[in-house]
Formats: sequence, structure tokens, C-alpha cells
Amino acid sequence: MARRKKTILLENVEMTDVAAEGKSLARVDNMVVFVPHTIPGDIVDVQVTRKRKRYMEGFPVRFIKHSSVRVEPFCLHFGECGGCQWQNLPYNEQLKYKQKQVLDQFERIGKIQTDRIFPIIPSERQTQYRNKLEFTFSDNRWLTKEEMQSGSLTDQRKALGFHIPGRFDKVLDIQTCCLQPEPSNEIRDFIREYALKHNLDFFDLINQQGFLRTLIIRNSQQGAYMVIISFFRDDRATIHLMLEELVKTFPDIVSMYYVINSKSNDTLTGLDPVLFHGDSHLIEEMEGLKFRVGPKSFYQTNAQQAHRLYKIARDFAELRGHEVVYDIYTGTGTIALFVARQCARVIGIESIREAIDDARQNAVLNGIQNVDFYAGDSRDILKEDFIADKGIPDTVIVDPPRSGMHADVVKAILDCHPERVVYVSCNPATQARDIQLMSSQYRVTRLQPVDMFPHTSHVENVALLERI
Ligand SMILES: C[S@@+](CC[C@H](N)C(=O)[O-])C[C@H]1O[C@@H](n2cnc3c(N)ncnc32)[C@H](O)[C@@H]1O
Repeated sequence: MARRKKTILLENVEMTDVAAEGKSLARVDNMVVFVPHTIPGDIVDVQVTRKRKRYMEGFPVRFIKHSSVRVEPFCLHFGECGGCQWQNLPYNEQLKYKQKQVLDQFERIGKIQTDRIFPIIPSERQTQYRNKLEFTFSDNRWLTKEEMQSGSLTDQRKALGFHIPGRFDKVLDIQTCCLQPEPSNEIRDFIREYALKHNLDFFDLINQQGFLRTLIIRNSQQGAYMVIISFFRDDRATIHLMLEELVKTFPDIVSMYYVINSKSNDTLTGLDPVLFHGDSHLIEEMEGLKFRVGPKSFYQTNAQQAHRLYKIARDFAELRGHEVVYDIYTGTGTIALFVARQCARVIGIESIREAIDDARQNAVLNGIQNVDFYAGDSRDILKEDFIADKGIPDTVIVDPPRSGMHADVVKAILDCHPERVVYVSCNPATQARDIQLMSSQYRVTRLQPVDMFPHTSHVENVALLERI
């Protein structure tokens, strides 16, 4: 006979802090309890769904008291879309928790004294701050709570929107997303309407069949738009008819691409987008510098805040003109080009070859000659011969992905013994871990958190390390 699991109900639990993925946490009998859809100050009854040695997870079955700081989320998709999970926290509270997150990670993981931490820099825009959104077509629409409760289910199961967190096969049909300026919503809605009217197949993510796969909308700060639609099959006539209609309707689309993707995943890696209309790149500008943004280029998604972030990195570097600077994890060379006029030479290193092609073209576009870019894994590139050949760096700037730096890269930096290391990070936990590894030779003299992504728990942080 199957044994029934004992259910645990925790009563009157006061949430005290924020946790990852938009959840909050409470402490009950020396255990941490993670609960979604709550914020600090809420008092709830929690149905436990998972119990481990040190923590539990559950969901709120009853709100006894709402937190006094709770605000009404502004997005109609809040609670189901995984995008902006902190919308029910006022912006100043979000900033407070982001600052605390940096402090906690540095003290707990990095064991680093953080008396030189500056107040977090808020995002100038709290909506419409993104310059890139990626939507998925699906024939398996997520049914919202309201639909299920009202019983007003229709046969229309096609969706163009965002994945439900943790569900590769379910997509929430997005009516409005407040994160990108218009006409982003209008473009997406037009494409959905067109596809429904012409009976085009939305992708079946489970059986990997269909026609329409993904839609990427990018924009520049100057209001130019790039649209990239990926299709499973190369049905050229149908694709052309659709795209002609789209570019005719939206003059802001200055660059229109399509790509045929018959792989088992949605990434554009290894694929060649085809330029259907207009310019091959968008142009972003920063302090008179121009950056080419192609369909596959990485560019910081909050461009306004990226400018602030780069200014902080440049200030922390305190370049005087004679330095050799390494910009490791350079992407399309934005930081390298941003500091190039203040130093003797910059070496940019990046694993994605196309990004390095963009970086080189960006250097030419801006008439900057004292930069060299190298494609490859920083772990493989930063060897003795390379460093001897290019020059020992006086200053190293790093901006790794969320996973942080490989220990070999940390070691290579330590072996170079630069005067300053400026560490830009989108994950203070791995940043603190890496900095801890450098603590015998460097001390942290400044920390500057920056908010790039309002209404999410993500926080960017710049650390200055000075040689002891
Ligand atoms: C957070 S982005 C920073 C890009 C750039 N600094 C900017 O601001 O646009 C991190 C970059 O590191 C690159 N990258 C990831 N792993 C790498 C590795 N092992 N070696 C070199 N580059 C890597 C990624 O492709 C990405 O472009």
C-alpha cells in the first residue's frame, strides 16, 4: 500500500527577508522557509511542499496580514510571468534589499569588510528600460488562474510570450510588457494577429514541430528597432509575405532579420540570420562612441544604466595614460573602447567570435587604434606567452557572466599582479567568492552596486581591488 506523505502546515509565519527568484524567507524553529508570492512583513500560513535538513519550501495558503509596504503590481501578468517578481515591493524597498544582498554576500561568502560600500545607484527608468525582449511562439498556451476559475476557456491555445518559470513547454501569452518602449507591444501583437489570421503554425515545443519559433525585438536609445523572427522551416514565400507586411506597418523597424532554426533549442548559436530589410546593425551611442549591435551581439539590456556602470568602472580604474589594461570578458568591446582614450593600450578577451568581430569593427568605427581583441576562453588565452607578448597589465577590468571567473583566470590575474583590478559583476555571490581568492594580495577599497533591472532581484556590482 502506498504511504501517504504527512502534510505540514506552518501557521502565522512572518516573512522577514527577500530570497532568490522573487520569494521571501522566514525562520521557523531554526529552519529557513522559502515562500513565493510574499514579501517581508507579510504574515501567512504556509503549506510546506518540500522539507530538507536545513530549509523548507512552501506556498502561502492564507494571508493573515499583508506587509505595510506592499504595493499594487502595475503589470496585468504579475504573479504568472517570471519577469518582474518584485513589482509588489516599492522601488525604494527593492533598492534596500539589493544593497543588503551585496553586503551579505561580501560578508558571508567573501569574508570581506565592506565599509567602503556606496549607496546603490537607482535605475533612471523603472519601466521601458530594456532594449531587448525575446518571445516564444507556442501552441500550448499557459491558462491563467482567471481563465481556470471563470471557466471561460476557449479553444485558442496559441501563445506568443514568455516561458512560465521552470516550464520549457508552457508559454504565457503576453498582452502588454512594460519593459521595452513602444512600439514593442504593437509589433508583437501585430505578428500574433497576422499569424492567427493566416493560420500559421505556432511551435509545438514538446514534439518539436511547427513553423513560428521565436521573436526577438531590439531597440536603440535613438528609437530604431531590429526584429528577428525564427522559423522552423524555410517556407520562403510565407516568410516574405509576413515580413513585408510587418516592415510596411512599422517604419521604426530599420532592420528586419529572419533565421531558419531546425535545432532542438531556441538559441541563435551556430545559425546565420538573413537580413530581409534595412540595416545590418543598430547603432548605440555613448559619450560620442558608436557601437554596432547585430542580431546576435551581446549589448547590456539597460543601455542608460550601462553608461553609468561603465563610468564607475572607468573612475575606479583611475587611468593616467600610461597603462596597459586588460578587459577580460569584453563582449563587443564596449568597456575596452570606453577606457581606451585614457590609457596606452587595451587588450580585450572574449569567448564569442562574433562578438570579437563586432568589437574590432566598433574600434574601426570609432577610429580607436590602441585596442586589440582576442577570441577564445580567457582561461586558455591568459597564458605566460600571451602576457609576455602583449604586456603585463597595470590594470585589469573583468566583467564575467553570472558563474564568475574560473579559478585559473583568477590565478592568471594574481600572477600578473596588476596595481588595480576592477571587477564588474551581475552576481555578487560569485564576485565575492572570486575576490576572496585574491584577498592575500588585494584589498577591496570600493564597492558600488548599480540597479540595472528594476522589479527583479538582480543587482550589478562594481568592486575596486587595490594591490596590498
Ligand atoms: C556580462 S557579459 C559582459 C560583456 C561586456 N563587458 C559588456 O559590458 O557588454 C560577459 C561576457 O563574457 C563572455 N564569456 C563568458 N565566458 C567566457 C570565457 N570563459 N572566456 C571569455 N569570455 C567569456 C560572454 O560571452 C559575455 O560576452
